[in-house]
Amino acid sequence: MSFDRSIKIAPSILSADFADFGREIQAIEAQGADWVHVDVMDGHFVPNLTFGPPAVKAFRPHVKTFMDVHLMIAPVDPYIDAYAEAGADMITAHVEAGPHIHRTLQAIKATGKMAGVSLNPGTPAEAIADVLDLCDMVLVMTVNPGFGGQKFIHSGVEKTRKIRQMIGDRPIHIQIDGGVTPETAPLVASAGADVLVAGSAVFNGGSVGNPDVYGKNMRAIRAAAEGARKDAA
Ligand code: DX5
Ligand code: ZN
Repeated sequence: MSFDRSIKIAPSILSADFADFGREIQAIEAQGADWVHVDVMDGHFVPNLTFGPPAVKAFRPHVKTFMDVHLMIAPVDPYIDAYAEAGADMITAHVEAGPHIHRTLQAIKATGKMAGVSLNPGTPAEAIADVLDLCDMVLVMTVNPGFGGQKFIHSGVEKTRKIRQMIGDRPIHIQIDGGVTPETAPLVASAGADVLVAGSAVFNGGSVGNPDVYGKNMRAIRAAAEGARKDAA
């Protein structure tokens, strides 16, 4: 089967109701989420704190699709096994988080999980050139990591185009994270991204009691991204 570069929507549960993760995950999946994006923050690499391995383990039985764990922590290497055992399908680490991203990606691969590498808005595409063969995904941050609801940083669009060229035929996803909306999704989709993370643009206005809004929000992002792909073809 050829590599799946179709548009995938990955809601970030950072924007979910923190008292109700199980039902929130079920609601977004029932409404069409392709992946579930889990933002792990340490109050050190980024100025916010979120989920340790026990929390991720508690999410696991609710996720029927694909659990994508975005580690915004430094150091990262000591925690890779714990997040793998907690049930992540993909573990993404930041190139800025440690001195040896190559070793970090090798360690993720050694757990049998898929490996992602992430770049902050201030980090050039070239920083990952020599680790691409260890990766299943490149995550291009289009906000500075730490919080949901920030404004999309446009330099990520050209960076995405460059990374798409660097990847060539290799089976590597490009994920965009930060400020993704129906307005910004077309820009990154036509530049070559296939996995779109969205927190506020999925969860805003909806709830587990009113999940149709999640579906409507995801369809709007997907339609905008797929439309831009068609126009670019
Ligand atoms: C930011 C996180 C994102 C965040 C996206 O540090 O990595 O995943 O939740 O939120 P929105 O879509 O609201 O920008
Ligand atoms: Zn994220």
